[in-house]
Amino acid sequence: MRLVIVSNRVTIPERTEKAAAGGLAVALREALEKQGGLWFGWSGNVREATSAPNVVERGNVTYAVTDLTEAERQSYYLGFSNRALWPLMHYRLGLTEFSRTDYAGYLAVNRRFAKALIGLLRPDDIIWIHDYHLIPLAAELRRRGVGNRIGYFHHIPWPPAEVFGALPFASTLASTVAAYDLVGLQTQTDVANLMGCLVAMCGASINGSRLRVGRRQTQVQAFPIGIDVEAFRKLAAASVRSATTPLKATRQSLGERKLVVGVDRLDYSKGIVQRLEAFGQFLRSHPDQRGRVGLLQIAPPSRSDVPEYAELDRQSDEVAGRLNAALGEFDWTPIRVVKKAYSRNALAGFYRRAQVGLVTPMRDGMNLVAKEYVAAQDPADPGVLVLSRFAGAAHQMGEALIVNPFDTHEVAEAIRTALAMPKSERVRRFEKLYDTIAATDIGWWTRSYLAVLSGAAPLEPEIVPG
Ligand code: F6P
Repeated sequence: MRLVIVSNRVTIPERTEKAAAGGLAVALREALEKQGGLWFGWSGNVREATSAPNVVERGNVTYAVTDLTEAERQSYYLGFSNRALWPLMHYRLGLTEFSRTDYAGYLAVNRRFAKALIGLLRPDDIIWIHDYHLIPLAAELRRRGVGNRIGYFHHIPWPPAEVFGALPFASTLASTVAAYDLVGLQTQTDVANLMGCLVAMCGASINGSRLRVGRRQTQVQAFPIGIDVEAFRKLAAASVRSATTPLKATRQSLGERKLVVGVDRLDYSKGIVQRLEAFGQFLRSHPDQRGRVGLLQIAPPSRSDVPEYAELDRQSDEVAGRLNAALGEFDWTPIRVVKKAYSRNALAGFYRRAQVGLVTPMRDGMNLVAKEYVAAQDPADPGVLVLSRFAGAAHQMGEALIVNPFDTHEVAEAIRTALAMPKSERVRRFEKLYDTIAATDIGWWTRSYLAVLSGAAPLEPEIVPG
């Protein structure tokens, strides 16, 4: 059976490119290479008019990418996906901006993707669709007679019905989930929330992990996503030996000072501003720590055309500037916010050097930085992970210091506890965390999901007129 992956963004690898360590894109590519397959989605480019997908072969994988028009990028990607669904799914009703034009654009792009994909499908393909941009895609495929097994993985949180229901047309969108054979989510909470939405809004009935809506049955299950732990561990270990990685420069610039590290896309769901405030609070409550530790926050800009992201960009500069001015010294800057992306090599080095990994999103589907930080530690002298209870990762990583990111005081005290933690306790916590992330790594995730999807019962195509 051929595997077909559909995701919002698709990057066609260079012919000579070797797989970089870790990452979802690499894991999916490996799954495709193993059994042969097709990867379909947006090229990331914009052009004036839509055209047939650009099809490129790389070994036994076919990449089929389509450009968006500027109007589609505005309505489907920036508008409905990232100004309505993203904040809503992250429980941020106050930031949710709904527009009927954007919703129409979102549905139209899903329809267009469905039409383009149908021309590339074979009868025994297994189709695996990713992310909130493409929720109605299976319904569009079914409407056109596609009877293949179709799975969906929702990488971000799914909120309770009371929150999701605030979205106009919530029940219409929720009902399209029933077109899938398998829906994967990050946690049991997300599973319960999605099921609750379908029961409340679409009259679904539940039988164990199966949802029934009308004649359709959908399996709904949690598959916590992982990382390539072994590859990341090797990267971090190699960074210690390398003379060229930023790790060496970090050593020179920090001297003996301790390091707390945060790595996130510049996104309000990540709690970056709240984290800076908590670090400031930590320095105020523990003046003996001033000059002895610094926070490095790496925050590559993201979705900068969305106004809420532009505002966060401004706000994070303002807060870091204010705290540095109030708490810094002529020879010590407490907070460094670096708004650029680093290679995985460099990140592995930063994680390895940092005594504390600060992962405090206000809400997050999983948060793979938490897992990368643990994978990168020196087993003989590991750092401590401070983790938000609202990250999916907290469901698996209970040996981290679990905090409420809304509670500045609690996060500040967790930083203090982490910095002062005796080595024996650090090692004990690290070993448990490492075992967990190694047992549920990215290979495990891909295999488990595909095993369930490919075992789903064959389906009758449902042809809906129109
Ligand atoms: O799952 C969240 C997600 O949409 C990922 O698929 C994506 O890599 C990331 O957020 C970044 O988003 P964007 O493609 O909008 O830059």
